[in-house]
Order: sequence, then C-alpha cells, then structure tokens
Amino acid sequence: MVQKKRFMGALVAATVLATLVSGCGTKTETTSATKAPDTAKTTEATAKAGDSKLVIGFSQIGAESGWRGAETQSIQDTAKADPTIDLKFSDAQQKQENQIKAIRSFIAQKVDVIAMAPVVETGWEAVLKEAKDAKIPVILVDRGIDKKNEDLYTSFIGSDFITEGQNAAKALAEHMGDKGNVVELEGTVGASAANDRKKGFDDEMKKHPNIKIVKSQSGDFNRATGKQVMEAILKSPEGKDIQGVYAHNDDMALGAIQAIEEAGKKPGTDVKIVSIDGIKEAFEAIKAGKLNTVVECNPLLGPQLYQAAKDLKAGKTVPKWIKSNEDVFSGQKAIDALPNRKY
Ligand code: AHR
Repeated sequence: MVQKKRFMGALVAATVLATLVSGCGTKTETTSATKAPDTAKTTEATAKAGDSKLVIGFSQIGAESGWRGAETQSIQDTAKADPTIDLKFSDAQQKQENQIKAIRSFIAQKVDVIAMAPVVETGWEAVLKEAKDAKIPVILVDRGIDKKNEDLYTSFIGSDFITEGQNAAKALAEHMGDKGNVVELEGTVGASAANDRKKGFDDEMKKHPNIKIVKSQSGDFNRATGKQVMEAILKSPEGKDIQGVYAHNDDMALGAIQAIEEAGKKPGTDVKIVSIDGIKEAFEAIKAGKLNTVVECNPLLGPQLYQAAKDLKAGKTVPKWIKSNEDVFSGQKAIDALPNRKY
C-alpha cells in the first residue's frame, strides 16, 4: 500500500513536471539543454500516455536572417496546426555547443525523431553517434554535415547550395556584361550553405575569365555584418573599382546595398548585385532597382519535415535527400512574383 502510494505520488509529480517542461509544444534551448537529465523520466511518462503523437526535437541555429525566421515559423506553425505533433524547439543562438547540448537533451527525453539545422558542417560525429546508439533517427534540415558522416543521419531536407552558387554566378556574369571585379560576401564560416555556395560560384566563374573576384569575406549571413564588411571593402584598395557583389544571402546583400549607397554609388546600376534566399525585402529591392537577381532557397520546410518524421516513426523509408524546388528571379519576373511571396 505504502509502495503504491509512493508510486502514485511519483507519477503525479512526473506528470506535472512533464507538463511544465513540454509546455505548449515549443520552448527554448536553454531550458531543454540544461534540464536534460531531470526531464528524461518525466518525458518518458508523457510519451507513454500519448504514444500516437510524434515527439520531435528540433535544434535551430538561431535568428540571423529573415530566411531563418521564415524557417522557424514554418516549423513551429506546422506543429501548432497538427495535434499529433509534439515539437520540442531549441534555439542555439549560433553556437554549435548549444546544438550539441540540445541534441543530448532530446536523446535523454527519448524523442521519436531529432531534427537539426547544423550551424557548421564538422564536429557532429560524437553526438550523432549517441543518437544512432539510442536508435533515434536524425533529419538534417536546410544545412548539411561533412560527407564522411553521411551514415549518421537518415535524411537531409533542403536545397542544392552548389546549384544556387552556380545560378548566382551565371546571373551576375550576365548583369556585368561578362567582365569586371566582384566582391563576395560569404555566409557563416564553416556552414555548408557558405561552403557550397562558394564552390558553385567559383566553379561557374571559371567559365568567365574576364570576371575577377577581388575580395571574399564572411558577413556571417546577417545584415549588420554584411553592411560593415562592405563598408570596409569599399574603403580598401580592392573596393575602389568593383562592378559586382555576390552575397551568399539576401540579408548581407541588403546590408551591402546600404553601404554602397552611403558611399555615393548606385546599387543595381554602378554595382550589380546578386544574392540567395528570396525574402520579400529582396524582391522589393529588385523592384526598386537596387538588387539585380535573387536565387531562391526555400525555408518553408515544416510540412516536409513532419511528413518525413511521421514516415520514419511508421517504419517507412525516406529518401536520403528530399530536395527543394527553387527558381531564379530578376526584373519583371521578380516584380510579378512579389505579391505572392510567402516569406
Ligand atoms: O542555411 C541557409 C542559409 O542560412 C540562408 O541562406 C541564410 O539566410 C541563413 O541564415
């Protein structure tokens, strides 16, 4: 009897704690990462109570760009609209160590599926081996990890960043009349989106020998840094004679546009600009004649993520790469597309 009472007491405490921990289905990384060891048992109790629910942990990089905000919203809104999904959301604030903590917390909570957007490509072996040992499938969302660790994740949902870089180079070469000097604003150092967009661009530019990349520097995928870096480049000897800017994302391009205007030049005319993502503000910049081309990269990955996760939970096989369909927008095509842009 005493034993039964103790058991009931523990169960009530576990349920109350589990409710506090899982909240309305979304919460921040700091909570999930630091509370991992305490929450494991309580979450187990919740999972047993509702085994039909998909319990999924998602480790997001942060909030560095408009694109990232749209991706977060897609992942959170899709979960909120589906009562069969229990999303545990964790924001790493650009730090790999926070993502690793979040993944360990998801493993401890015995989620059905772990999803993550890896901030950089390398350094995931140990934690992803732990997920594999715990038999929890891992889905990479939007960014990849190094090729040698392909067996450590089940599926990658996202874009072909190399093709995006190639498409950016083709467009920029055309706008520049196939000659001139280019500044490249790179994404976060070590990120697959930065590495592959650079590779695609460089490969394609080999076909355009009269275009020279005079400076490549990281603007960390955010607008303020993109602006600062562009300002410094415009003041440097290399920046005195440039006809093109290739930005690995729209936010850095929008920062560069401000820097170019403040330096007394006309973005889109004196300096041709091509960027990647396709956020509304980039389309507006095309309409205003300040940006020349945007290469689309789809952040609305929520529906595909949960479909893949549900399939995995149901024991189905999912493709190793679930590729996004994307387009390239310039001029009137961009202006016509603007009213229907979803992010
Ligand atoms: O990984 C995708 C990239 O990350 C997007 O292009 C960029 O805007 C984001 O921060």
